[in-house]
Amino acid sequence: MIQAPKGTDDVLPDEAARRELVEAHARRILGAAGYRRIETPAFEATELFTRGVGEATDIVQKEMYTFDDGGGRSLTLRPEGTAPVCRAYLEHGMRKLAQPVKLWYLSSFFRAEAPQRGRYRQFWQVGAEAIGSAGAESDAELIVLLAELLESLGVKGTRLRLSSLGTPATRSEYREELKAFLRAHQDRLSAEVRSRIDLNPMRAFDATDPGTREVMRGAPTLLDRLAPEDAEHFDQVRRLLDDAGVRYELDPALVRGLDYYTRTVFEFTSDALGAQSGIGGGGRYDGLIELLEGPHTPAAGWAAGVERMLMAAGELPAPADYVDLFVALAAPDGSRIAFELAREARRAGLQAQLELAGRSLKGQLKHADRIGARYVAIVGDARPQATVSLKDMESGEQRETSAGTVIPTILRGSRLS
Ligand code: HAM
Repeated sequence: MIQAPKGTDDVLPDEAARRELVEAHARRILGAAGYRRIETPAFEATELFTRGVGEATDIVQKEMYTFDDGGGRSLTLRPEGTAPVCRAYLEHGMRKLAQPVKLWYLSSFFRAEAPQRGRYRQFWQVGAEAIGSAGAESDAELIVLLAELLESLGVKGTRLRLSSLGTPATRSEYREELKAFLRAHQDRLSAEVRSRIDLNPMRAFDATDPGTREVMRGAPTLLDRLAPEDAEHFDQVRRLLDDAGVRYELDPALVRGLDYYTRTVFEFTSDALGAQSGIGGGGRYDGLIELLEGPHTPAAGWAAGVERMLMAAGELPAPADYVDLFVALAAPDGSRIAFELAREARRAGLQAQLELAGRSLKGQLKHADRIGARYVAIVGDARPQATVSLKDMESGEQRETSAGTVIPTILRGSRLS
């Protein structure tokens, strides 16, 4: 039997119904704040991601599904949505619109990661991007919107970590300072941290061994090195979040897996998830549009994993599958009448299903009961004025009527009940 590739998952109907709830909440919450839906193609020019996400990131180095389009052009299945949305913003001249342009998406993304619980090779994200606004209100509003989405889905045990990365220049100066600090204390660091001083000095903040932890208590943090205007921007984001009652932890060592961030970065995690605890994250990316050869355009956004949100969500109310009418066939020659009756019922706004499996009448009634049909119309013969038995499945009452009166009777009946 052919199976779905490793790290991909089928979305079966029950799960699809839960996803529809995610979509409905996202549309309501983001729509109320003026975000409009956008969808970009599943694959893009590879260069969009090497430039946008960053040549040195794990995503670009190891996780992209890249292929030749047959004409020598390199294409990549999108590993994330921010660079594509910025590409679309530029390509469609959206900078001529009133700014910021606020967009949201619900799309699938692809990363060649080692699959495990909560980590897939094809996964879905809800994302929001506000392009063309530099204000701290934009950062804070985005964070509040994601907090509301998580809350509306009943996502449990969430924590918000917040930091600021300042500008790329501040960041690279700080990196040098941190490396020098680590080298000066290297005899007290773990072997692993010591071996990665040049490659990834920020990792030292996550170390668990007592020696390294002791050293890191005295380490300089990036937050202490922010330029005054970046520090002021960050203070304002914090003030707005405080006013909104959104709780967060400052995490000066917060690192995101994408290179485009400037200033604010944040990540929501959930204790309800295992190792893959990141539910959603984002931040400001004031330099990305320029990297894509557009004019300087400040922007911010986030994305949250749909599978992870659903894993950490409580029981979501299952949308009721309601069937008003099941059209059963007592004799095969009535099938045209039955077909027409089901179609008319749907046009009248009813949920109507037709017998499609050639069951016996007894089998059909059993099936109608199983799917929760409110009424069953049993079509006996092929005459246009055919007599139809209409059975009320709640009361068990059954009466003879004509095909033409079935729908009005149900409409009256459902209004009464
Ligand atoms: P990201 O942190 O790489 O950010 O991904 C956002 C969320 O997508 C993660 O928190 C996680 O829930 C989910 N996710 C990521 N990879 C996987 C995977 N392999 N399997 C399942 N879920 C996954 C971004 O993608 C940025 N574009 C966010 C952003 C938008 N920043 C600014 N605007």
